Amino acid sequence: MLSKLLLVTALASAAFAASNCPSKRATGDLKNANFWFAFGDSYTARGFNTSRAVPAPGNPFGNPAYPGNTGVGANWIDFDTVEFNKSLILTYDYARAGATINGTLVKPTLTTYDFITQVNHFEAQVVKKKPASAPWTSKNAMFSVWFGINDINNSYNKGGDRNAFSDKLIDQYFAQVQRLYIHGARNFIFIGVPPIYRTPHMLAKSASARSLQKSVMDGYNYRLAVRVHSWAAKYPGVKAHIWDANVGFNNVLNDPKKYGFKNVTAVGDFWANDFHPSSKAHHIWAQDVATVLKGTVWL
Ligand SMILES: *[C@@H]1O[C@H](CO)[C@@H](O)[C@H](O)[C@H]1NC(C)=O
Ligand SMILES: *[C@@H]1O[C@H](CO)[C@@H](O)[C@H](O)[C@H]1NC(C)=O
Ligand SMILES: *[C@@H]1O[C@H](CO)[C@@H](O)[C@H](O)[C@H]1NC(C)=O
Ligand SMILES: *[C@@H]1O[C@H](CO)[C@@H](O)[C@H](O)[C@H]1NC(C)=O
Ligand SMILES: *[C@@H]1O[C@H](CO)[C@@H](O)[C@H](O)[C@H]1NC(C)=O
Repeated sequence: MLSKLLLVTALASAAFAASNCPSKRATGDLKNANFWFAFGDSYTARGFNTSRAVPAPGNPFGNPAYPGNTGVGANWIDFDTVEFNKSLILTYDYARAGATINGTLVKPTLTTYDFITQVNHFEAQVVKKKPASAPWTSKNAMFSVWFGINDINNSYNKGGDRNAFSDKLIDQYFAQVQRLYIHGARNFIFIGVPPIYRTPHMLAKSASARSLQKSVMDGYNYRLAVRVHSWAAKYPGVKAHIWDANVGFNNVLNDPKKYGFKNVTAVGDFWANDFHPSSKAHHIWAQDVATVLKGTVWL
């Protein structure tokens, strides 16, 4: 009881000091902030517009406000930024629905910004201008990269050597990662492709289409993991983490009751629509990512 009272008193005096001196408080908070730069597709996107409000203490996403325009409610990056965060995280989420790694190589489902363009946006916003609002450094910035879902969905059935194509995709992926590295990125979390062959979208197709998609996805995920290791080994100072989304999704899909889901084969509590997991599922992905990054300054 006493300690609770002391805490309340401390908070009250902090609030008092803050209200007397708002600008000083904002600067102080920004000084202690950590940063998260996210690149990806609809599984990560929340509709960030680089021309509008930027992330700041008290407004960690800038725009749009939590949970953002995700189409499904709060997503994994929403939860990691405001719920599983171990510090103040300011999240610049450059991800865009429908995005592929290179929109010329694999045409996105919608007109959107591919990984290349998302890195352009990052450069224009917080590298070239070095704004006072984003005092990020190699130490305080995490970079998450989650691509491949649309690349595979939109190309798995094109025939030819799909593994050779995945090598090409991963080359282009790491050309973008290299640009981030040159700008000072050192902390990464790479996320592979989840079992999209288990989405209602694919369950409506033939077993052979699903099995083909699974084999293309396995080839891509294997290549991604190999490249993450070989790339990170070349650059001292890089800390590369991987969250294996394939394992994460399958854990839940194989034992849905354990995670409180009723139906994982149709749109419902697990699938928000025929291709996207629900917010409840995203909460589990956020926990998985927090487990991978446990002990870091972010989560
Ligand atoms: C981003 O915001 C600017 C300024 O409000 C607006 O002009 C532009 O249309 C927005 N872009 C998108 C894609 O919504
Ligand atoms: C987590 O983020 C929220 C929202 O920005 C912030 O209010 C809170 O202080 C952060 N938690 C920690 C432990 O810093
Ligand atoms: C994107 O892919 C196209 C088609 O393969 C290629 O011509 C172009 O150079 C690639 N862009 C980048 C930045 O690698
Ligand atoms: C998946 O790819 C197919 C084309 O192969 C496309 O019709 C469909 O809209 C895509 N689904 C999503 C959710 O992007
Ligand atoms: C899930 O829902 C679909 C569509 O309503 C139904 O066909 C299927 O049997 C359900 N599965 C379970 C495990 O209830």
